[in-house]
Amino acid sequence: MPAKPEVMVCVNRRFGGTKPSCAERGSLALASAIEAALRAAGSPVPVTRSVCQNACEQGPAVRVLPGPVLFRAVSADDVAQIVATAIVAGGGAGAVPDSADQ
Ligand code: FES
Repeated sequence: MPAKPEVMVCVNRRFGGTKPSCAERGSLALASAIEAALRAAGSPVPVTRSVCQNACEQGPAVRVLPGPVLFRAVSADDVAQIVATAIVAGGGAGAVPDSADQ
């Protein structure tokens, strides 16, 4: 069974050490922006604030399922492309959410 469409935004934050984390690079705001853009497009694809996706050096990291497609070093300029990818992944505008979600 194919994975359900989903956008996973890493919101991991580190409190020490030298390794960067996505939350330090603004991923919480990106998650909200992606979520708002999906809703504005009429897409039911959920946005999950996720744990580390092991792309810390190139964060913020955003993964679109199914695929998966991993976007790295995401900025506000990438939101439209992420939304378009998520819609193609199966959560298109006007799509009906799975009955299990209701
Ligand atoms: S902290 Fe975001 S990918 Fe590791």
